[in-house]
Amino acid sequence: MHFSQIQRVPDDPILGLIQAYAKDPNPNKFDLGVGVYKDAQGLTTIPRAVKIAEQRLVDSQPTKSYIGGHGEPRFGTLICELVMGADSPLIASKRVGATQTPGGTGALRLSADFIANCLPGKGIWLSDPTWPIHETIYAAAGLKVSHYPYVGSDNTLNVPAMLETLRTIPEGDVVLLHACCHNPTGFDLSRDDWYAVLEIVKQRNLLPLIDFAYQGFGDGLEEDAWAVRLFAGELPELLITSSCSKNFGLYRERTGALLVCADTTDKLLDVRSQLSATARNLWSNPPDHGAAVVAEILGDPELKALWAEEVEEMRSRIAHLRVGLVEALTPLGLGERFAHIAVQRGMFSYTGMNDDQVARLRNEHSVYMVAAGRANVAGIDATRLTELAAAFAAVCED
Ligand code: LMR
Repeated sequence: MHFSQIQRVPDDPILGLIQAYAKDPNPNKFDLGVGVYKDAQGLTTIPRAVKIAEQRLVDSQPTKSYIGGHGEPRFGTLICELVMGADSPLIASKRVGATQTPGGTGALRLSADFIANCLPGKGIWLSDPTWPIHETIYAAAGLKVSHYPYVGSDNTLNVPAMLETLRTIPEGDVVLLHACCHNPTGFDLSRDDWYAVLEIVKQRNLLPLIDFAYQGFGDGLEEDAWAVRLFAGELPELLITSSCSKNFGLYRERTGALLVCADTTDKLLDVRSQLSATARNLWSNPPDHGAAVVAEILGDPELKALWAEEVEEMRSRIAHLRVGLVEALTPLGLGERFAHIAVQRGMFSYTGMNDDQVARLRNEHSVYMVAAGRANVAGIDATRLTELAAAFAAVCED
C-alpha cells in the first residue's frame, strides 16, 4: 500500500482550535484562539464597505478571466499607496511594486520561494517567538531558519538581546520583522528601537522582510506604517508582506500582496519577473474576489473613508478590551501581573500564562487560547470580562 507509512500529524496549533472550540458544548465558552475580530455581539461580520464593494462587483464585473501573475494592476497600485503612503517617493520613482497573493500567508510563501530560488545561501532570521507558520513556511522552502531573541521567559520585550543577536547575523541574510501588532506577543518596538534595528540592517547589509498583517489595528492606518516607510526611505531594497485579512475582514477570501522595493525600476522589473514565475508554480494566478473588493474600496474616496472608519472602530474596540480586561483583573489582585495586556498592541496578547495554565483554562473553564499563552483579545466578549478574569484568576492560584 502506498499510504501505509503515512503518520497522522497533530492539528494546526492555531486553526485546530476552531474545531475544538466548536465541539465544546459549554454555552459559556470563550474563543480567544484564532486571530479573527469579533464585534460587541461576538460576530465576525463583513465590513459595510466590503458589502457595498461586493454588490458593485456583482452588478458590474465584466469577466472572471485570468488576471496574470501579479494580479490586478489596480489592486497593486492601491495597496502600494496604502502601505507606502500615496505621496511616497518610491511610488513616484517606480521603485516599488506589489504582487497580489492568496492572503498574507501566500505573500510569505512567495517570499520564501523567491529567496530560496533567487538568493541562494541566504538564511532567514525570525523573532523568538514568532507566528508558528513563519517557522514552517521558510523551512518548507528549504531556508536555514534562525532566531533572534524578542520576548523572554519573563514575558517582557528584550530589545538589547534582540540587537545583540542582530549584530551577529551573517552579512546579507534576511531578517523578518513585524511592522506592528507582533504576532504572537503584542509587544511592539518603539520608534527608537526601529532606528537601532535600521542601523544594524545597514551595517550588516541585511535584507529586511517586514510582515505587515495588521495595518490599522495598532495605532492607526498611517501610524502603523511608520516603520515600513522609514525602512523603505532609508534602504535600497526591502520586501514587505501585506495582508487584507484582518483590516478588510476578508479572511477566507485570501487577499494579500508581496511588495518589493528595489534601487532602480529596472531591478524592480527583474525581481518582479521572478516573482511572477515563482507564483506560476505555486498558484498560477492569485484569487481575485478579495483583491477586487479592496481595489473598489481604496479606489473610491467615499468608500475608503467608510472603510477607514470601520478599521478605527475595530482598533479602538480592541484597545478598550485590553484596558477592560486589566481593570477586571485588578479587584482579583492581578492588575499588576497582567498590566502588560493594556500596553501590547493589535489582536494578540502574550498573557504570560504557561502551557499548563492554557490547558487548565481550556479544560476547566472552556477558555480557548493558543499555546504559550497567546490570547486573541479581539475575540473577547466585553460583557463577560469579569467571568474571563475569574477564569484567569482560578488558574493563577498556586
Ligand atoms: C492567527 O495568528 O491567529 C492568524 O494569523 C490566523 C492564522 O492564519 O494563523
